[in-house]
Order: sequence, then C-alpha cells, then structure tokens
Amino acid sequence: MDRKGIYINLERYKKWLSNISNIFKADICFLDEAGNCNIKSYNGHKPGFQGLTTEILQEAYKEVKKSGAPFSKNGKKNSFGIVAVPVGTWHHLRGILVAGYRNNKDAGIPVSDITDLQDMLTETAVFIDDEASLQHDLDSLTNELSTRYEELTLIYGVGDKLKVGENSFNTIRYIINEALQMLHGNAGILYVPDFGINEILLSNTEYSKDDLDRIISHVKRKCDTKKDQIIVNTLRDFRSIGLKDKNWFKFIATPVQVKGEIRGILLILSNTLSVDYSTGDVKLLQTLSGQASMIITNDELYNNLKNFVVNFVKTMVSAIEAKDSYTRGHSERVNKISIMIARAMGLSHKQIENVSWAAILHDVGKIGVSDEILTKPGRLTNDEYNIVKTHPEKGYLIMKHIEHIQDALPGILYHQECYDGTGYPEGLKGKEIPLYARIIAVADTYDAITSSRAYREYNTHINALREINSVSGMQLDSEIVDVFNEICRTHPDFIRGEVDDDKEDKNGFDKLYRT
Ligand SMILES: [Fe+2]
Repeated sequence: MDRKGIYINLERYKKWLSNISNIFKADICFLDEAGNCNIKSYNGHKPGFQGLTTEILQEAYKEVKKSGAPFSKNGKKNSFGIVAVPVGTWHHLRGILVAGYRNNKDAGIPVSDITDLQDMLTETAVFIDDEASLQHDLDSLTNELSTRYEELTLIYGVGDKLKVGENSFNTIRYIINEALQMLHGNAGILYVPDFGINEILLSNTEYSKDDLDRIISHVKRKCDTKKDQIIVNTLRDFRSIGLKDKNWFKFIATPVQVKGEIRGILLILSNTLSVDYSTGDVKLLQTLSGQASMIITNDELYNNLKNFVVNFVKTMVSAIEAKDSYTRGHSERVNKISIMIARAMGLSHKQIENVSWAAILHDVGKIGVSDEILTKPGRLTNDEYNIVKTHPEKGYLIMKHIEHIQDALPGILYHQECYDGTGYPEGLKGKEIPLYARIIAVADTYDAITSSRAYREYNTHINALREINSVSGMQLDSEIVDVFNEICRTHPDFIRGEVDDDKEDKNGFDKLYRT
C-alpha cells in the first residue's frame, strides 16, 4: 500500500537548517504537500515569529506549486520577507522549504543575501528530495517483497495441500479463505458449476444470498465475454443488476480456466476495504485461480483413472464370480455392508475407501482356484480345502503391484483370519488382525450365510444375525459385531436396500440373497 507524504526523517536536517537560520536570522519551515508544517522554527523563536503565518505559508506553497520554481517576497523596512523553494519536482512536489526574515534595513536585506539564502535552501531541498526518492524506492521494494513473500507462502501452502486423491474441496476452501484474508474480502466465491463447486465463504458480511446469486451470474457473463480479470472499485457497474444491498462495495474477479476453457470464476467482495483493488491484487487472484484450475484438472484426471481402475476391477471380480453362479454379486454386497460398518465406526473418508477396495477384492485370489473346487456341491477334501485357503495370499500377490490400493492389501490378505487365532493364512489373533480385515470378516460371514451355496441353501437374516452373534469374540471381533447389530437394529431397511440392489426378489429379509 502506498504511503502518502514525505518519507524522510527531517530531524537529520535540523542542524543544517539551524545553521542557515542563524546566518540569515531567519526562521525556516518545511511545509509538506498535505499542508503540515513539519519543521517549525530554527532561530530560537516560536513558529510564525518571523512572519511565517499560515496565510503566508499557504500563499508560498500555492506560488511554488504553480510555477515549480522558488518564490520570494522581499518586505519593506520592519516588515517580513520570505524565500520559498520547492522540494521535489513540479510534477511531484513533496513540499516547500520556507525561510522568513525580518527586514531591518531601509532597502531590505541585500539581494545577494537573498540569493545566498535561496541557494542554500535549494541545495538542502535537493538532498531532502533525493533521500525521499530513495526512501520511496526502498518502501516500494519492501512492499513488493512482502507481497511476493505472501504469494510464495500462499503458493507453498496450496502446493503442500495439493495431494492427488485427497479431498480437493478442502484445498479449494483453503484457497478461497487465503484469498479472503489477503485481499481483505468479506465474501469469497469459487463457482465452477460443472465440477460441482459452488463454494461461498463469508466473513462478517451481510450480503444476501439473492444478491450473491445476481453478482455471480453478472460476473460470470462478464468473464465469459472478456475472458479476463475484472476489478470493480465502485458500485456503479452494479446498479443495473438490481442488488438489494445498497452498501457500496468493491470486488475483484478472475475466470477459472481449465485447459483454455472458462469453467468458472473466483470472486472476492469487500465492503470494508478503504483502498482500491490494484493490478497487483489481480495478479494474486490469478495465481489462486491457477491453483484452483490445477486442482480441478488433477481431480478430473484422478477420477478418470480411478473410474477406469474401478470398472476394470469390477469386470475382473464379475469374471471370477461368473465361475460360480452361487457367489454372483457376493463381493459387491460384502463391499456395501463393509462400507456401512466403516461409516458407523466413524472411519475417515480415506479409510472407508480402503475398506471398500479391500472388500470388493477380498476374494480375487479365487481366480487361482479351479472351478471344480469352487463349485463342488459336497464337502471339500482336506487337500481341496487347503487349496481354497490359498486365495487370500493369491489375491494379495495379484494386487500388491497396484500402487493405488496398497493400504487396502491387509484387508485382502487377512480377511479369513479369526479373532481367536484359528483363521488363516497366518493365524493372527485379536487386534493383530488389521481393522479392514476384521470389518470384512463380519460382512463376508453375513453374506455367506444369507446366500445359497452349491452345498447348502441360503439362510434368513434373523438366523444369520443369530449365527454371527454366536461366534462374536471368537471367529469375529465382538466390537464390530456390535456395530453391525446396531446398524441392523436402527436401519433394517437401509441394510436391505444397500445389499438388495442386485436382487430381483425384494419381498423381505427371508428372501434376501437367493440366487
Ligand atoms: Fe474369502
């Protein structure tokens, strides 16, 4: 922000001006551009003693400003005379140095003395002006550096939050909040409708929702046409759009472009800012808009890739389940129940995603088990059962190369472990078994009981719950069984609806999972 007035410490000229003052028996004032008299007197007198009255000073300032040249007025005997010189240029007058003296001689003080006085004042004025220029440059540089520092801090802050696959909306919110702080706004808006973003952050403002909607559509129209940033420092441009809030305000807006296409706007409004928005502020907003654009691009790429992987995995799981008509839809149902349990346990978004990957892929290792064994109607021999027991490890080995699902791998590898240590592949016990695997075990057990198998008929929801509770604390983690009981108790229709999507028969629990 630019500082007005003179930037120098005039105290350092005090001694020098006092000397001039003593030589010529004159009082000297510095009158700045705002009309403040910064140096009062240097001849041991009170201000105004040597005729430097407010009127005289104002007249001198007016004359010097008009011509950009020194001004002098030589008084008659026993009256006052003045000499005023400019500090600064005619284009940028910082103030004037004025010397006032009493004329004790008939013909006034000698012209040569006045010329000397004027020369000495002019020399001092040049020094003051040079120092003021240097100080101004230094101030500008400091301001520029501080702005750059703030920008860099911001970019670093956003960059730090830019992790692919993380919650982009949190990062977007961070960007708007930073823009609000740095541009002293009351309302910050990021509007990218086709990305599902309509984020409005408000801070201590009374803008109505209706007004904000009008502003958004108006600015969007302007940005679409101009494809450029907009600064509005007065209300004038907004009279036509019928805002209810008649408070004056300022705003700054920039389009959000993704791959050259305008997808939305980033807008900051203020009704308290005392200075106008500048082109420097636009630069800052453009940087933020660029960051938002990067987040959107990354997110879309990430989602495309994720959708591809999800569809690929689903196809793969379907292919495996097609080997055995009895298990069709099993992985998807286990996935849905596992997600419900994970949500009810209050797991994070990322953890729920991991549970979901592990659940949908938990039986993927069965691809390495022959169809004869998987679809055998009778009991399996020990050898056959030992082959089936290899499926968690096989699934782990197949999936361990996919970087995206690394955190879900324990859920695949250990989903057949039992809480009492009697499971496989490693016989882990209690909380040694990874959380995702303990969740999947409950969901897997429920779906297995309520689905028909080659060797037995499906069982009812009530019986399944009874059976699950009978092995709680032994085969299954009792805490997770409790969570599942609670879900069934409070949301029976939800359980049914979530897992029943693939079923034709939706008459009730008793007919669930019949295939
Ligand atoms: Fe399994």
